[in-house]
Amino acid sequence: MNNKMWGGRFGSQSDPLMEEINASIDFDRHLYRQDIAASKAHAAMLAKTGIITAQDAKRIAHGLDTILSEIEAGKFKFERALEDIHMNVEGRLGELIGPAAGRLHTARSRNDQVATDFRLWIRDAIDRFDAALAEYQRALAQKALEHAATVMPGFTHLQTAQPVTFGHHLLAYVEMAARDRGRFADARARLNESPLGAAALAGTSFPIDRAMTAKTLGFARPMGNSLDAVADRDFVLETLSACAIAAMHLSRFAEEIVIWSSPLVGLVRLSDAFITGSSIMPQKRNPDAAELVRARTGRVVGALTALLMVMKGLPLAYQKDMQEDKEGAFDALGTLTLSIGAMTGMVRDMTPDAERMRLAAGEGFATATDLADWLTHALNLPFREAHHVTGRIVAKAAAAGVALDKLPLAAMQAIEPRIGKAVFGVLSVEASVKSRNVYGGTAPKNVRAQAKRWLKRLQKKP
Ligand code: ARG
Repeated sequence: MNNKMWGGRFGSQSDPLMEEINASIDFDRHLYRQDIAASKAHAAMLAKTGIITAQDAKRIAHGLDTILSEIEAGKFKFERALEDIHMNVEGRLGELIGPAAGRLHTARSRNDQVATDFRLWIRDAIDRFDAALAEYQRALAQKALEHAATVMPGFTHLQTAQPVTFGHHLLAYVEMAARDRGRFADARARLNESPLGAAALAGTSFPIDRAMTAKTLGFARPMGNSLDAVADRDFVLETLSACAIAAMHLSRFAEEIVIWSSPLVGLVRLSDAFITGSSIMPQKRNPDAAELVRARTGRVVGALTALLMVMKGLPLAYQKDMQEDKEGAFDALGTLTLSIGAMTGMVRDMTPDAERMRLAAGEGFATATDLADWLTHALNLPFREAHHVTGRIVAKAAAAGVALDKLPLAAMQAIEPRIGKAVFGVLSVEASVKSRNVYGGTAPKNVRAQAKRWLKRLQKKP
C-alpha cells in the first residue's frame, strides 16, 4: 500500500526497501512529546485565527492528549508504513476523531513541524545538561573544599612540575564545566526561535499567527525567514559542538582518574560503586566507568562531524538528508548525559591518598622553582641566573640521591655562598603551595575561598 498521507498521485506500489530506507519512526519517536505540544499549539492558533472551528480544535486537542497518554503508557502502535512521528501521530488522530484530524495539517508542513519539534527537543536536552553539569560542579567544589590543603604533584608533560593542591586541580574542572554550561546557554538562546509557520519552505497564505504559536511553545519569537527556518540545522551542530567540548573535558579528567587510580601511581582510590572486577584476576579494580567516559567522547565528536558532512552540500531548502540529524544527536546527547552522571558519582566517591600525594609532590625536585624564586628575591639574583644556580643545585641533589630540602646547606653554599639556612623555609611542598597565593593560584587559602564561592553560586534555587 502507498502512504495514505501522500499516496494520492501514485499509481504503483513502493518497493519494500523504500520503506526501509525512508522510515524514521524507529528513532524520531523520541520527539513525540514535542510533536504533540507543537500540534496542540498549532491547532489552538488555527482556531483563534478562524482557520478551523473551535470545535474541531477541541477535538484535535483532546485526541492529541489521548495519543500522548497512549504513548506514555506504551500502548501506542508505531507504524513504519507511516514513516515518521508526525504521520504516526496524525494517522492515529484520524482513527480517534475522524475527519477533523485532517484539518490539523492546514498551513503547515512536516518541514516546519520537524524543525520545530527538534528545536524543542534540543532545548529540553540543554536544560537537562545544565542541571547535570551544575550537579557535577557541586560534587567537584565540595571535594575541593575538603581537600583545599591536600598537596599533590602538579604536572606538565606528565612530569612532576610543581606542587599544587588536590582542591585546586578539581576546581580547574569546575571552571571548564562553567564554560561548557555557558556554551549550552548560548546555543539555547540562539535556537529559541520558532520555525512553525514557515510551512514547506515559502510560508503560507493562511492568516496564521506565528507569534502566538511561538509564545505558546516558549520561543522568543518566530524565525524571520521561512527558507532558513526549515533548512538549517545549525542549532543541532552548535549543541553538538558544545557537547563535544564538554565530552573532551570529561575525557581528560577520566584519563587522569585512570592514571591516578593505577596501583603504579596510587594517588586516588575509586569507590567500589564505579569500578569492575576481572573475571580472571581476583585482585583487579578496573576504572571502567572512567575508561568509557574517555572512549565515548569519540561518539559525541563523531555525531558532530557526521552532521557537518550531511549539511555541507545541501542546497536550500529542506532535503531529506536532514532526517539524518537525529540519530547521532540522540546518541550523543544520551551518551553525554550518562558520562556527566558517572563522573559526578566518581568525584563524590573518590578518596585521595593524601600521604602518597604529598610524597609524590616532593619527588622530581618539584620545589626547584621555589628555590629559584627565593634566590631571586632573597639574594636579588636575576631570575635567569637564579634558574642556572638552581639547576646546578638540583644536579647535585640528584647525584647525591636526596630531595632538595635534604641537601646539606654546605653543598648549596659550595655553588652559591650567599645561600643561608632561611632557604629551607621555601623548600617544602607545603611552603611551596602556600606561597602561590596570587589570585587564581594554588595556595590552600585561595582554594578554600574559590571552592566556597562556587558552592555559593551553585546553591540550588529553592
Ligand atoms: N521525517 C522527516 C525528517 O525528519 C520529516 C520531514 C519530512 N519532510 C519531507 N518533505 N519529506 O526530516
